[in-house]
Amino acid sequence: MCNDDKNIIDALNWRYATKKFDAAKKVLPGLLDIILEAIRLAPTSFGLQSFHVTVVTEPANNKALIKAAMNQDNVVSAPILLVFSVDTRLKAHIEKYIQNMTDNHVPEKFIKKMKRIMPLFIFLKTLFVFKNQWLARQVYISLGVALVAAAELEMDSCPIEAFSPRKVARALDLPSYHKPSVILALGYRAGSETPRTKYRLSSQELFARV
Ligand SMILES: Cc1cc2nc3c(=O)[nH]c(=O)nc-3n(C[C@H](O)[C@H](O)[C@H](O)COP(=O)(O)O)c2cc1C
Repeated sequence: MCNDDKNIIDALNWRYATKKFDAAKKVLPGLLDIILEAIRLAPTSFGLQSFHVTVVTEPANNKALIKAAMNQDNVVSAPILLVFSVDTRLKAHIEKYIQNMTDNHVPEKFIKKMKRIMPLFIFLKTLFVFKNQWLARQVYISLGVALVAAAELEMDSCPIEAFSPRKVARALDLPSYHKPSVILALGYRAGSETPRTKYRLSSQELFARV
């Protein structure tokens, strides 16, 4: 979808949640790097980026991982899985963020203000939703950006939520502060696949102009 005469809507119409990938068709490292860069550039609340992505190549070789993801065809056949985990070390992330601002010569007055506001804002935000759920919201923004980036590159993908986070963490030997929240399977659709028909709400149902 990189042609000049194609636009983002064409790319979004082209993509679909791929159920089976062509396991033999590998993702070029340069294209994977573009998707990872898109993830890195995605916005998060405050720009805190309290998450981590594990890049799994040839997931089919990790039997425990496949089992943890219910042996889904797309997980077995994808040449690459991106496992998005929330990083629960919020305090450390805030400290790093403040340090980054100091290193980048952000005015002292602003840093002082952020030091005061950030913990308070996050405390209030996590008063009614669990901390990990609030962190997961940030992860899903990156997931969305990665989905669009993949479509733009004519790479197939499928977001995966049907898995046991505990078992996936164990299969990948993740540290306890990385909690898997969503997986993105990447690759190219199998020749046997028929792209799924899109079902979407109509514009009238979805939008109100006031
Ligand atoms: C957060 C999320 C989790 C999903 N989990 C799975 C999954 O575990 N397995 C799967 O085959 N598809 C999964 N899907 C794909 C959706 O079913 C699919 O995106 C939706 O039906 C819309 O179809 P389309 O993406 O083909 O347009 C998931 C999608 C999202 C956004």
